[in-house]
Amino acid sequence: MQVSATGESNFAGVEADALVLGIDADGSLSAAARSVDEATGGVVSKLLSQKEFVGKANELLSVVAPAGVKARLLLLVGLGAAGQTDAGAAYRAASAAALALASKERKTVAFALDPDWPAEFVESAVAGVIAGSQGQDLYRAEKKRFPFTTLLWAGSKVPAALATGQILGDSINLTRRLVNEPPDQMYPESFAVRAAEVARQCGLKIEIWDQDRLEVERCGSLLAVARGSSRPPRLVMLDYRGAKADHPWLAIVGKGVTFDSGGLSLKPTDGMLAMKCDMAGAATMLGAMRAIALLKLPVNVVGLAGLVENMTGPAAMKLGDVLTARSGTTIEVHNTDAEGRLVLADVLNVALDQRPERIVDLATLTGACVVALGTEVAGLMTNDQPWCDAVAAAARRSGEPVWQLPMYPEIYDDMIKSEVADIKNVGEGRWGGAISAAKFLERFVGHTPWTHMDIAGPAFRDKPKPWSDGGASGTYVRTLVELVRSHAG
Ligand code: BES
Ligand code: MN
Ligand code: ZN
Repeated sequence: MQVSATGESNFAGVEADALVLGIDADGSLSAAARSVDEATGGVVSKLLSQKEFVGKANELLSVVAPAGVKARLLLLVGLGAAGQTDAGAAYRAASAAALALASKERKTVAFALDPDWPAEFVESAVAGVIAGSQGQDLYRAEKKRFPFTTLLWAGSKVPAALATGQILGDSINLTRRLVNEPPDQMYPESFAVRAAEVARQCGLKIEIWDQDRLEVERCGSLLAVARGSSRPPRLVMLDYRGAKADHPWLAIVGKGVTFDSGGLSLKPTDGMLAMKCDMAGAATMLGAMRAIALLKLPVNVVGLAGLVENMTGPAAMKLGDVLTARSGTTIEVHNTDAEGRLVLADVLNVALDQRPERIVDLATLTGACVVALGTEVAGLMTNDQPWCDAVAAAARRSGEPVWQLPMYPEIYDDMIKSEVADIKNVGEGRWGGAISAAKFLERFVGHTPWTHMDIAGPAFRDKPKPWSDGGASGTYVRTLVELVRSHAG
């Protein structure tokens, strides 16, 4: 999609197949809405006074062939309560409008949401248009969504935000596409190949460890998960250097289980159906690294992904097996479906080799986190409160919801004690399952400030939302970019 600014103040005169107009819930009209209202002889204010449209968040109303407007179609989109808009609301409103318009082929769509929006809202909204107009049509002859050829941003005072928004939107779609690919297409090797393509396109350094290298590196915990599959594992390491080498490095680590059958602790059909999404952490890392590189942010970041398929093959790890992780820590396997933490144990240890100043990991790690927080909120767990606050603040500025869960050592540390090894890979019973998983990861980050994001809920939607098709959401790409940006400042 080509994104450009009109620089126009005559909004009704914009040449486009459709014009999207943002409306606040309090009935006050933005400069854009006022100009369209005047050009149409008061159509907008009439719809508002008759309560045909109230400006509720993501509300849509289309007006066909309105007199006085050049565009064939005028689409009103609600922005919600005035003054309460944030980057998330901007993303969703733009995405809701784009989703509706993309149901038919349209060349040029102009957006006049609110010309007074600051750059953070505009870039999120542009990203929302690019994500919203892209569905999950990869393997469907009859497409349901048609991305526009051109997105015209009408009356923007912050032109640089358009280019940023486009990079964010395309990166979010990269993440979504990798997650939406069926598991027979997206497996450890093919993910690594895609990562190498992305790295080449945006000038990132990449290193890929294959099975042999992982063995040499004694990644016994990751390799144990991989043993049940005919697809060999990979570890991907991306390097982005935007600052001097002595400038501190940030590590972003992603869980990349390309399919999670549960292993011998096999999942039932319902629980397994969406498990192609179990590499969303790795895909979110890759989408964010792409954006960080293309935005040329003045920071140093390493991105790591542990890629395996969790299957039940003849060599699969067994209950009671004791694994030796790369760090030397021994792990008793109580449940082969708690595989994400086994993979991350070794990837976090590899990350420490780079001596990062801080680590953030993203993982579709536990159903327990979804029970605790629902499907739209990621859980945050940390060994360093200021670093967790920085992650939460970046998420808040991006309008992507997160909520911190506690890590009290006196309460939770004992949950992963084993009778025969240093630790076991599950907690005591099912209570506090998101936290016992994080407690496990904590054992592999040393003293490095670390924040874990459990994205099992928000990464993948079983059902569509008014502002998003079902499937991969691409959530937290924007948060990671914002986090890295604030790290630069
Ligand atoms: N990949 C799953 C977690 C998951 C659940 C992701 C739902 C997305 C949606 C993870 O590997 C898993 O199976 N976790 C187990 C842990 C348990 C065996 C301790 C779980 O949550 O049931
Ligand atoms: Mn699992
Ligand atoms: Zn999993």
